[in-house]
Amino acid sequence: MDAQPKPKVLLCVAGGIAAYKSVVLLRELLERGCVCKVAMTRSAHAFVGAATFSGLTGQAPLTEFSDHPGEVHVELAQWADAIVVAPATANLLSRAAMGAADNVVLATLLCNQSPVLFAPAMHESMWNHPATQHNVGLLTERGARWVGPEHGALASGEQGMGRMSEPINIANALDALVVKRRDLHGVRIIVTAGPTYEDIDPVRFIGNRSSGKTGYALASCARARGATVTLISGPVWLSPPSHVSLVEVRSAKDMHDAVAAHMPHADVLIMAAAVADYRPHVVSPHKLHKDEQERTLTLMPTEDILANAGQKLAANSPLLVGFSLETDNVVGAAKRKLLRKKLDLVVANRAQEALENDSTQVTLIDHDGEQTLPSMPKAQAADAILDAVAKHWRRRQTASDRPTLLALDGAQ
Ligand code: CTP
Repeated sequence: MDAQPKPKVLLCVAGGIAAYKSVVLLRELLERGCVCKVAMTRSAHAFVGAATFSGLTGQAPLTEFSDHPGEVHVELAQWADAIVVAPATANLLSRAAMGAADNVVLATLLCNQSPVLFAPAMHESMWNHPATQHNVGLLTERGARWVGPEHGALASGEQGMGRMSEPINIANALDALVVKRRDLHGVRIIVTAGPTYEDIDPVRFIGNRSSGKTGYALASCARARGATVTLISGPVWLSPPSHVSLVEVRSAKDMHDAVAAHMPHADVLIMAAAVADYRPHVVSPHKLHKDEQERTLTLMPTEDILANAGQKLAANSPLLVGFSLETDNVVGAAKRKLLRKKLDLVVANRAQEALENDSTQVTLIDHDGEQTLPSMPKAQAADAILDAVAKHWRRRQTASDRPTLLALDGAQ
């Protein structure tokens, strides 16, 4: 980890036998240059002494709201660059998943916007239980990261899955998370999300089945990794992530205008929106009534927002990331879009898997090649997509690869 600025890490300790290893973890984090605070659940005190943590950090661990004036959980969440929960017991995971806030650890997790790493530790049967797996799924959806559990000797003396990862492995995972957290610091990113609605009359429109979940997850993850995010969203049923500037639009034309207005101040444009390709030629100002006749709707092509952005390539133009949703020949079609729209990166996915689903399987395609990722929750996929965006951004910062793209001018 960089020495400047020192990452601020909150270590949360829950009540499990593996709590003794969290002392070693704390020492490891301090040796790596982190500034650490510790919060413990009440039951953690039965397994490890508060004095041990105080000895290492010079500060008493936080457990009771009543011991501290003000809103200690809010202050802790705002202070931390990252939170590591080790050990994360089955009980703690279940209560964190349900949004409980009746102790300092849980209340801090509920206020937190920074990356969270859970290091689970429990008996194998508890880890495998559908309730625990459901909670792990819920927390993952909300952006939680995991290290372990591992297979090995459990507290019961049996061998099995459920042993907390070794402190060095937890510290390594946290290293990656904290470094990642900063990798988009100050990068100005536009993310578009959701469908567009193309009105037919005041009560009807042409839309599509995009939920907006991938775009919203991208906006949230990019923000968590330090980016300044403008989220341009079609009509969706999602709450916007905090600290993101939201621009709500309805039609492809609205989205085009909003992107055009924000592009001059953007470093990256991620077009995750399912933009309508056609709109009705005429929008009736009055509700259309039925009759016995066939009716024909004349459709006009909408402006291709991404292709337009690709046409205006200049030395300082944003990095362009497109999505390609297909039912067949998913990768081939995406490669064609990469060239045709002059993109830096295209994210290909299969409509049958991505639409109205919480998970997705994507293939990342750029001018170097392609990488197919396993099926994963959209929040996790967003993080993986941003890894690729960050790679391109770093490359852009060191040596511009724009001339290569300009050389593609005219390629179809
Ligand atoms: N896109 C856009 N403006 C449009 C249509 C699409 O900016 N009017 C963007 C999408 O947000 C996506 C990418 O272009 O990032 C590819 O969209 P997609 O619908 O998969 O492909 P199209 O270019 O529309 O081509 P086709 O419909 O033939 O697949």
